[in-house]
Amino acid sequence: MRVLRGRAPAKVTLSLRVLGTRPDGYHELDALTVSCSDPNDRIALYPQRRGDTVSVAPAGSAPTGAANNLATKAITLLRPRLPADLPGIRVRLHKQIPMGAGLGGGSADAATVLTLLGKHFALPRRDLERAAARLGSDVPFALRGTPAFLRGRGERLVAAPGIASLTLVIATPDFGCDTPLVYRAWDELGSPRSDRVLESDLVDGGLANDLEPAAHAVFPLLGAFRDAVARSTDRHPIMLGSGSSYAVVADDPDHGAAIAARLRADLYLPTVWCGSTIPSARTGSPGSTAR
Ligand code: C5P
Repeated sequence: MRVLRGRAPAKVTLSLRVLGTRPDGYHELDALTVSCSDPNDRIALYPQRRGDTVSVAPAGSAPTGAANNLATKAITLLRPRLPADLPGIRVRLHKQIPMGAGLGGGSADAATVLTLLGKHFALPRRDLERAAARLGSDVPFALRGTPAFLRGRGERLVAAPGIASLTLVIATPDFGCDTPLVYRAWDELGSPRSDRVLESDLVDGGLANDLEPAAHAVFPLLGAFRDAVARSTDRHPIMLGSGSSYAVVADDPDHGAAIAARLRADLYLPTVWCGSTIPSARTGSPGSTAR
């Protein structure tokens, strides 16, 4: 195997409705999710003589134990399909997507590993999809990458048609949110529905994140962060996943770059990105963008 290289884009939940608690303890979701070019992780796979290992830069930006990192777990699941003369793979992750930021970084890394190996060894798509479903609720979406409605616990995908590329500015504060804690708080708060809605024709009733009140209850600093993003950008910030990142929709890439520069300066925050989202396989009418 030659060295394989790829990029893992961030996941952006434009809208996240939580419909209830399931018998398995997970929550039933109805979400609209897209992939964003920035932030992204760079990934390289090197053949090596023994075993699968992972190294991460910058240090501490992802788990390094092969048993804990989703990228190496992805290789383990594909191992029976890989050639016998490939005894090991070293994964080199150059992380930009922060952990605990609601951006699905670990899932995106795993999906990119599946895609790189799948392409190089011409593996059946079905095997990649099966491995993705076993790796976590978010990995099937990351494997596909195009806009999708996520149902069930997030693993059931329905392609969202007609969504053109959007310019997004994503800002992550210097703390993360623990996903299980946020879901537990949602239960304890009595299953709140968010009434902060961004008018849009992408989703009936607009874009909202039902986990936002729960995330703010567990991580009170998040409210101040959202307000600072709103003040600096003069836009409606959307909380991503279970937090801690927020995104705003910009008019176009130049506008996005200007907003991002102002946010970095106003908040003294390096973790601000401007990216474009991957559109639906066939983009539809011009009326299909968020406003
Ligand atoms: O599937 P994943 O490992 O990303 O989920 C992390 C945690 O988030 C789960 O252990 C669960 O506590 C919570 N979760 C949930 N309902 C979902 C997805 C995640 O309760 N649909």
